[in-house]
Amino acid sequence: MRLTIALLFLILNLSLAQNTSLYNEPYRPQFHFTPPAKWMNDPNGLVYLNGKYHLFYQYYPDGIVWGPMHWGHAESTDLLHWKHLPIALYPDKLGWIFSGSAVIDKNNTAGFGNNAMIAIFTYHNDEIWKAGKKNTESQALAYSLDEGKTWTKYKNNPVLNNLGEQDFRDPKVFWHGETSKWIMALAVGDKIKLFSSPNLKEWQEESVFKPIEKDTELGVWECPDLFPMKTASGESKWVMIINHGDKGPNGGSCTRYFIGNFDGKTFTKTQEAKWLDYGTDYYAAVTFSNVPNDKKILLGWMSNWQYATKVPTDVWRSAMTIPRELVLIKEGKNYHLNQKMIAQFSGLTKPVFNQKEVSTPFEKKEIDLSQSEVTFDFSQPTDAIISLSNSKGEIFTITIAGSIVVTDRSHSGQKDFHESFATKPQVMPIEDKISSVQLILDKSSVEILLNDGKYSMTNLLFPTESFTEFKVITKDKITMQNFTIKAVASIWK
Ligand code: FRU
Repeated sequence: MRLTIALLFLILNLSLAQNTSLYNEPYRPQFHFTPPAKWMNDPNGLVYLNGKYHLFYQYYPDGIVWGPMHWGHAESTDLLHWKHLPIALYPDKLGWIFSGSAVIDKNNTAGFGNNAMIAIFTYHNDEIWKAGKKNTESQALAYSLDEGKTWTKYKNNPVLNNLGEQDFRDPKVFWHGETSKWIMALAVGDKIKLFSSPNLKEWQEESVFKPIEKDTELGVWECPDLFPMKTASGESKWVMIINHGDKGPNGGSCTRYFIGNFDGKTFTKTQEAKWLDYGTDYYAAVTFSNVPNDKKILLGWMSNWQYATKVPTDVWRSAMTIPRELVLIKEGKNYHLNQKMIAQFSGLTKPVFNQKEVSTPFEKKEIDLSQSEVTFDFSQPTDAIISLSNSKGEIFTITIAGSIVVTDRSHSGQKDFHESFATKPQVMPIEDKISSVQLILDKSSVEILLNDGKYSMTNLLFPTESFTEFKVITKDKITMQNFTIKAVASIWK
């Protein structure tokens, strides 16, 4: 089995090099990460080492829907061009390999070797799960001494046994210098628990984070993250990210974050939660470990558990977002995370239409938007309708109206594969007027960043032919500045 899969990867990599039809299928993203074939969900074990970023991911190599989970693996020097590598972790008698993180053990605290790459993941035992028992999930280790190429599971796994809650998973681990301990954030039922360890092998519970607030009805708690950030003026805060399987602001899977303080044991929120993205296709987002200059780079799974297994692709299923750099800004007493596409993304783009100023209403026809970035600034605040359409009359709209932004994909192409995909428009509240717009369109997605990444909406779209028309209609006649349409190159060719 392993040999077959290793061979499959070799053949896939070879055939990519020869530019065959793989990666040319309808809807195949051209500059977002997708597995060559089969099912993918969460990003896992995001870590940087010796010039390379490693992306592991929830992977089912034998099917096009979710199944027994493995960790797929790819690496990149720029976070955009990815090289597929053999599967890193296979299920075994303890269970399937669910989500988790990876660290570089610089001080050899675990004794696996200096600078060992160590994966901390969840074992999910599906038999116990199906039997309706509680002790389904536990945390375990695997290590690699050759930069992620080959992996050995720790012989005394699991290292953290189930404490009696069925949902007990997705460890995100980081080194906390002040206490000289590893800290693990873990999703446990409807709360996040923090554990500490000197060596990754023995864990002690430190605290429980269960914010008391109205929205406790959110879906299952999954994939937490906890990390410090600084504002431009040097103020430090801690960020806790929590993903929820359901009941997001526009339905289904969603990602929110808290800003607060962390004293080595307890995370205390200092403001209420905010959504990281208001679209329906941004989930399981977590940051890379060990990134130079302490940059916080976030990667999400661009889908939604409501319909992920039904989207109209059949060779592979699901893509990751473009990696985004997080920026902590202060607004009054509160803090906010802005998201910026990683700087190197601009290296993939080439302007095809560029005007210092255009006035509204504005229309650009006969331009292939299927791999594009559109950016512009509004010279003055206004309500507006931005639309992308094709000759078949399929249309996707972004409406700015007072204090909300609304996207509508109900006439944007294929949508009948699932009743929840396009039943209603998606709404995002905004606190200030929209001044800048950035749209990134790949074959079957749009990432919308407004006001320098303060507002974010990510959506899948399945038009039956490329969008070729771009329009902006505004309430008042205004000018738009620095209007640019860029073509985005494929990362696979
Ligand atoms: C999130 C999630 C995780 C789990 C994994 C299983 O999408 O449900 O909580 O570890 O996916 O594939």
